[in-house]
Amino acid sequence: MTEINIRPEIPLEYENICGLVKTAFETAHVSSGEEANLVRNIRGGLNYIPELSLVAERDGVLIGQVMLSKTTVTNENDVFPTLFLGPVCTLPEYRNKGLGGALINAALAKAKDMGHTAVFLAGDRNYYRRFGFVSASEHRIRCQHELPPELLDNVMALELTPDALKGVAGIVTL
Ligand SMILES: CC(C)(COP(=O)(O)OP(=O)(O)OC[C@H]1O[C@@H](n2cnc3c(N)ncnc32)[C@H](O)[C@@H]1OP(=O)(O)O)[C@@H](O)C(=O)NCCC(=O)NCCS
Repeated sequence: MTEINIRPEIPLEYENICGLVKTAFETAHVSSGEEANLVRNIRGGLNYIPELSLVAERDGVLIGQVMLSKTTVTNENDVFPTLFLGPVCTLPEYRNKGLGGALINAALAKAKDMGHTAVFLAGDRNYYRRFGFVSASEHRIRCQHELPPELLDNVMALELTPDALKGVAGIVTL
């Protein structure tokens, strides 16, 4: 197989990436149908981090993407700056070959290099626990939405540096 290149997205391909996201989420287990708009909204706001918005490219074709953007955990005393992971997707024909994992690991490694200490997401815990994510409730952190009990553990957290979330309780904005 030709080499796959994982690199930051560039403005010229913004709309192609939204098309990729739309296509990929048509076959997702869970989809709001709004993931491409989420990407546009993140890019258009202050939480966008270009270096942590990655694409996978093969032979000039975009085949996957992942985005880490800024968010916070807040409580009555503090605001803790952190990262939100999402969306992430790969084209159906490239699935189960390690591409999603490679994109996520590349983004997490780059985030750590940049000095970020933790990452949050809402997603399928069976997928994300392989990267070390645990239920955010283990850190006494929940998201701003009221969720049914069976989905509470889908709000997940990963410490990029040891004990980064020690003592950080509150509400993460996802
Ligand atoms: C989730 C997704 C990004 C994984 O991409 P991928 O390129 O197949 O990732 P990998 O090859 O690294 O991992 C595949 C593994 O993840 C598992 N997996 C994929 N989606 C999963 C899910 N929703 N829940 C649990 N496991 C999942 C596969 O069964 C496979 O397991 P295995 O390694 O034990 O065989 C891809 O399936 C996708 O784009 N799905 C549609 C969009 C989506 O749902 N995004 C995530 C939102 S939470």
